[in-house]
Amino acid sequence: MSNHKQISETIAQRLNRIVESETIAMAKLGRALAAEGKPIINLSFGEPDFRTPDHIKQAAIDAINQNFTYYTPVAGIPDLKEAVKLKFKRDNNLEYNTDQIVVSTGAKNSIMNTVLALVNPGDEVIIPQPYWVSYSDMVNLAEGVCVFINTSIDEHYKITPQQLEEAITPKTKLFMFSSPNNPSGMIYNESELKAFAEVFERHPHVYILSDEIYEHINFNEKHYSIANYGTLINRTITVNGVSKAFSMTGWRIGYIGAPKEIAFACEKLQSQFTSGTNSIAQKAAIAALLGVMQPTYDMRTAFHSRRDLCYNLLKDVEGIKLLNPDGAFYLFPDISHFIGKSYKNYTIHNSQDLCMYILNEFYVVTVAGSAFGNDHCIRLSYATNEDNLTIAINRIKEALSLLK
Ligand SMILES: Cc1ncc(COP(=O)(O)O)c(C=O)c1O
Repeated sequence: MSNHKQISETIAQRLNRIVESETIAMAKLGRALAAEGKPIINLSFGEPDFRTPDHIKQAAIDAINQNFTYYTPVAGIPDLKEAVKLKFKRDNNLEYNTDQIVVSTGAKNSIMNTVLALVNPGDEVIIPQPYWVSYSDMVNLAEGVCVFINTSIDEHYKITPQQLEEAITPKTKLFMFSSPNNPSGMIYNESELKAFAEVFERHPHVYILSDEIYEHINFNEKHYSIANYGTLINRTITVNGVSKAFSMTGWRIGYIGAPKEIAFACEKLQSQFTSGTNSIAQKAAIAALLGVMQPTYDMRTAFHSRRDLCYNLLKDVEGIKLLNPDGAFYLFPDISHFIGKSYKNYTIHNSQDLCMYILNEFYVVTVAGSAFGNDHCIRLSYATNEDNLTIAINRIKEALSLLK
């Protein structure tokens, strides 16, 4: 795969510190096979397969018709920042002023800004595994040092306050996590977040990046934000966006609520990198944040029923260990049982081998757990319709049953 190629002398050294996003690389491979006419089903996508709701699209059409097509203030238009402020208060009980809010080109851009704004070369960044695919590369790009905390399916992919405390050193600058989590789908509940907050109160030099992009795709209890506890609002960067909640991945709007100094640093970076995000998409994001939430709730209901379908299809497969996720739209089965097994000319040494076998022989695109820091698992996205999911999972079952 392109990921581990040595980069030529033409390309700057810093590019050697990162790899192409594995989820994007797998989707590319899937598209190439589909173009050859193979009956590909793609379970690699990290995006809802629903339409952006009409009232949001209409706001963008209106923006174009009103010639709202010029550069905007770098950190976002005032009415969008006001909408984000309201949203933080309404949904998360967080009081961020508009000068603490920066709107960016997707949550990915928000996270990269934050990492570049905070992390000096050699600074340690604590990341629980499994983590969203880009976290480690972003830290590497900033020349930070990733300090991973391992978890496994037996701990429900959750870290404990003790593990967190043990990972903190005088060099720790940042702790980054997502809840609901991509790829595991697990969610930290209120008491777990409070326990982390108690640890952070003892270590006031550590900043916290709380990635809450899957906030609304949550099947059980209410969503909680870590910035609510103790004094953490003063050093938490709360990241969110419209991609997952409103099926707006292509619109590229993310945002942060952060201490003023950090928000200003992100704005400064953005003033040189992007000049702020798309004017039309910003108007659409206002409609999303302030408009009716029913389309989001309907989407969540659909994800819930797909989660049940996929979980039930996979849970009894011999050799698979599986959790029933609380949120997001992924399953993260443990496939350790199949390591060392073979079929035809395939021998499975790791999660990547298993994904390539399933792709090449059974035409289902999945993503190796190694991309998320856990080589015992693979990630399946259920952001596709139930017929596709049923066919794809049955193909995966057949693939696994042939491995001896
Ligand atoms: C955990 C997590 N954070 C952030 C993002 C980035 O979202 P956006 O589309 O807003 O850049 C994703 C997208 O897959 C994600 O899974």
